[in-house]
Amino acid sequence: MMNDSTRKLYIETYGCQMNVADTEVVLSILGDAGFRQTDRPADANLILVNTCSVRDNAEHRAHQRVSELKEYKRKNPDVLIGVLGCMAERLRVSLVERNNLVDLVVGPDEYRRLPKLVEDAYAGQRGIAVKLSRVENYDDVTPLRTDGITAWLSVMRGCDKFCTFCVVPFTRGRERSRTLESIVQEARGLSERGFKEVTLLGQNVNSYHDGTYDFADLLTAVARVDRTMRVRYTTSHPQDMSGRLIEAMATHDNICNYIHLPVQSGSDRVLKLMNRTYTVEQYLRLTERIRRAIPGVSFSTDIIAGFPTETAGDHALTVALMNEVRYDGAYMFKYSPRENTKAWEMGDDVPDEVKNERLNEIIALQEGISGDLNRAMIGSEVEVLAERDSSRSADDLLGRTDTNKKVVFARGSAAPGEYRRVRIDRANAHTLFGTLITGAN
Ligand code: 5AD
Ligand code: SF4
Repeated sequence: MMNDSTRKLYIETYGCQMNVADTEVVLSILGDAGFRQTDRPADANLILVNTCSVRDNAEHRAHQRVSELKEYKRKNPDVLIGVLGCMAERLRVSLVERNNLVDLVVGPDEYRRLPKLVEDAYAGQRGIAVKLSRVENYDDVTPLRTDGITAWLSVMRGCDKFCTFCVVPFTRGRERSRTLESIVQEARGLSERGFKEVTLLGQNVNSYHDGTYDFADLLTAVARVDRTMRVRYTTSHPQDMSGRLIEAMATHDNICNYIHLPVQSGSDRVLKLMNRTYTVEQYLRLTERIRRAIPGVSFSTDIIAGFPTETAGDHALTVALMNEVRYDGAYMFKYSPRENTKAWEMGDDVPDEVKNERLNEIIALQEGISGDLNRAMIGSEVEVLAERDSSRSADDLLGRTDTNKKVVFARGSAAPGEYRRVRIDRANAHTLFGTLITGAN
């Protein structure tokens, strides 16, 4: 077995923010076992890929990366390769048992066992741990985060909604929440370390319940930790968007006026087949109610194109809904059949060309809407939390508004971590560009 000074871990993360947060849990657990992170796979003796299963192309990419990273093992047989996350259970058979591709396969509820599994793997045993748990929430593991301005904070795991297209209830298991106290304590730690924004995370975050407190209580408690620290959350389900939650958002200035509220489809017939538990009318009423309570709130959504049996008429209803809500942003996907799900049994009858056409149409529509909404902000002044250097120019900073819009501006006297006022000069569908307002502020 290697000594502590040689334990170097390289990890790549795919998929949603939950996986990013899980990677920080893994880094913490393996850090306690003496592993230090490296950003060069060639230096590592343990290479991990944290995977996503939500759509076929995500799985495909992770597969490909694992094959590429195998090169490092070929060069140095002492290197261990492991697959973590949502693909673990699905890939156990193909990756380990059939192809002997990797040494470790560890599912999202088994990360505490990683140190032992790694030891065993070095001793020549293949480490497989893919059981899901009803209780594991890593409540007592402090994720290993690099210092920064924005942090992810996982508050619940799993999902009980069983949308018929979605593999998450199978890959991540049943819903379970951390305690409010431990989350608040973690948020306090983040504030003390200088973080300026925290995003509460869960697959279904607003159905959070720790037995005593619900998500409205949690959001309020975290908002009170530090009034200069912004609080966001994702992903919410329309069904759990309670009046108290809307009220909490309206009451606290540092809870951001932004909601990611996946709608998935604009057709009641399709929503029913998806088991989404709301109608278009109920969804629209909800957005109106939120808009009344929180003036200026921005919305984003997820939409699936080409769900089984989706007709041209259903698709037209989705287009109509998008025109009605006028989302600030949207994540749009081609339906991807996933084994084990109910929708898998419905067949995949919308031809690929039709899916592509519908997807391209809604993407173009959303580009237009986002562009129009952003351009309407030209001339206005916004408060921006400066986050980091802009990737395009070292002279510019990138920040976001409370409504989650990206803003690029010449840095002037501003530095990451500061709230500054910026006047918007131009805009496209994805970014606002502005000028720092200096002087008395
Ligand atoms: N096919 C396409 N999109 C999917 N999503 C989840 N499962 C599938 C699937 N099988 C999308 C949903 C969800 C987002 C995270 O991914 O829109 O909200
Ligand atoms: Fe999947 Fe639906 Fe749960 Fe979201 S709410 S994780 S789409 S089952």
